[in-house]
Amino acid sequence: MKKVYIETYGCQMNVNDTEVVFSILGKAGYERTEDIAEADIIFANTCSIRDNAEQRIWGRIEQFAIRKRERADVVVGILGCMAERLKDKLLETGKVDIVAGPDAYRSLPRLLEAVLPGHPQIDVLLSREETYGDISPVRIDRGGVSAFISIMRGCNNVCSYCVVPYTRGAERSRDPRTIVREACDCFREGYREVTLLGQNVDSYRWKDGDGGEVTFAQLLEMVARISPLLRVRFSTSNPQDFSDDVILTMSRYDNICRHIHFPVQSGSDRILEKMRRRYTREWYLERVRMIRSVIPDCGLTTDVIAGFCSETEDDHRDTLSLFEEVGFDSAFMFYYSERPGTIAARNYPDDVDIQTKTRRLNEIIALQNRKSLESYRRDIGRSFTVLVEGPSKKNPEELCGRASNNKMCVFPDSVHKAGDYVDVEVVGCTSATLLCRLAE
Ligand code: 5AD
Ligand code: SF4
Repeated sequence: MKKVYIETYGCQMNVNDTEVVFSILGKAGYERTEDIAEADIIFANTCSIRDNAEQRIWGRIEQFAIRKRERADVVVGILGCMAERLKDKLLETGKVDIVAGPDAYRSLPRLLEAVLPGHPQIDVLLSREETYGDISPVRIDRGGVSAFISIMRGCNNVCSYCVVPYTRGAERSRDPRTIVREACDCFREGYREVTLLGQNVDSYRWKDGDGGEVTFAQLLEMVARISPLLRVRFSTSNPQDFSDDVILTMSRYDNICRHIHFPVQSGSDRILEKMRRRYTREWYLERVRMIRSVIPDCGLTTDVIAGFCSETEDDHRDTLSLFEEVGFDSAFMFYYSERPGTIAARNYPDDVDIQTKTRRLNEIIALQNRKSLESYRRDIGRSFTVLVEGPSKKNPEELCGRASNNKMCVFPDSVHKAGDYVDVEVVGCTSATLLCRLAE
């Protein structure tokens, strides 16, 4: 049996895609290995979201090439978004044998059969239908407690900075029956949390043959009803499409976690319009008020981009003031990285210099660190139910797990184990962790 090793970069969706790839290859008679040294096949499942993500992969390709020099029959493959974006450019290096885009994973056994030294194989066709709905992913890692389930693929949003519509193609939703079945399987296997994944989960829509329709709020409810002991999370929400139905469904089910990842990208209306985000600052703040009026303790996190094309100090201050006003629990913060082929790259010069981008990003990070600490401090004295993920990384005498609001909790405990629900009281915090003790 040939052994396959896969390195995964980028988002949670890529982690799930790697699990799909392992499933497809397992059925075709390949075996998974976690040790690159014994691999016959080395794959990198890649990300194109920012230039530095791609630079890392170029570095890895050089290192894979060293392995190929030692063992000429090792097959090196690039999967995922970078495969889709760069296509033949990867083959031209002479260091890559297989290039397969996100919709081409069913072809991998065929590509592996056909590959010969000097005869690389490529499949980067994007599909309008592929959802891998019938494939049961082979779960990697995460301690058997929490699983990712893709509910849709692709994206129709064309935000001007973003490469995803080009690398993952048009949006398509997966049959809800296969999603519920997969979540049931996870629960039966002992998983206690599933995260429903999509680039924009709010536009999930399944039309059955009889004119009926399943929306994201309905899907969420279907999954939440599997068992009160199965936690349900979802990502990513889009402020423009986020519906009242979703928040009302959340409020009706305790096992739908009180956390919304709500990427804002900028606090300036002028920049939001240039980014083609289809909402304004005021619309975003109204959605936040609505969420908090229905679920006052809802965890809120975000993504933001500093230094987008033509961003002025005034625009930047609008982002800072929005962060001040909302008070996110945490944020993923980036500076703008131009991606070839996107609407922004074709239409607007990347005209904020790197020093200014870095300074603005650092200002956002400093403000957010302060806000995170405030948010975590507010939880001191509160009680939460934590789903145990396993021993804490820093201290093996402690367990760690998340509260419903997605905050990481650590607490001394020698009794419970991964997959247990435990009630804790918060006694202290850092800006990223709640320090807890078992509740009386
Ligand atoms: N440059 C910087 N950050 C980007 N993101 C998406 N495209 C870019 C880009 N070109 C960020 C957005 C998105 C997150 C996944 O990555 O904030 O929400
Ligand atoms: Fe995920 Fe986007 Fe990176 Fe593709 S480009 S792996 S969709 S984060």
